[in-house]
Amino acid sequence: MKGAVFVTLKTMIEESHGPTAWAALVDKVAPECEGVYDANENYPDADAIAYIGAVAELLNSSASAVTEIFGRYLFDALNSMSPQYAAASPTLFGFLQSIEPLIHREIRNSNKSSSLPVIVVKVTDEQHLLMRYNSPRKLCFLAEGLIRGAAKHYGETVELSHDKCLHRGDICCELNVIKLAT
Ligand code: HEM
Repeated sequence: MKGAVFVTLKTMIEESHGPTAWAALVDKVAPECEGVYDANENYPDADAIAYIGAVAELLNSSASAVTEIFGRYLFDALNSMSPQYAAASPTLFGFLQSIEPLIHREIRNSNKSSSLPVIVVKVTDEQHLLMRYNSPRKLCFLAEGLIRGAAKHYGETVELSHDKCLHRGDICCELNVIKLAT
């Protein structure tokens, strides 16, 4: 997993709970890099999962809820680092359709070892979009948070349902995004 993801998690925790809380999480996860992350390097996926578990414990919450909240925060961080992607799509649905063929494709092309999911998006009508998600990391709740973060960025109100899920033994996750009238 890209260092940028760890750096963003660190910023989120330090902003909300202070530097001591982040230091305690690093102690708990005990990563080989000792908690020093370079945004452009790759770090073990297992460390990201371990941090999520440790944050969930700290907040007395579930791993899925923590991952989803982090996804919202991560959207803003990614969008600040690479604003050209959202700028290229005037609507949320257009943006979500560009993830695989544009955004993740460019990342994959520039770094063959990137840990990216397979995302297939289908727009069924003006209000309904179906996203199929698959990844050995099973970070579908991160995808949920990223979608909600993107919806906020576009000023669009959406409802999300997570009908099929890798965590429940389905072969992929299905996220239905319903655009509500504002
Ligand atoms: C709503 C929009 C997006 C969704 C649903 C999405 C989904 C995801 C998910 C779920 C992951 C975690 C890896 C996995 O599940 O296997 C991921 C990784 C990543 N995504 Fe996206 N993404 C979105 C937008 C973006 C944008 C705008 C960027 C901008 C650069 C981006 C760049 C990345 C990067 C750098 C990683 C980490 C790659 C690595 O660790 O090697 N994504 N994405």
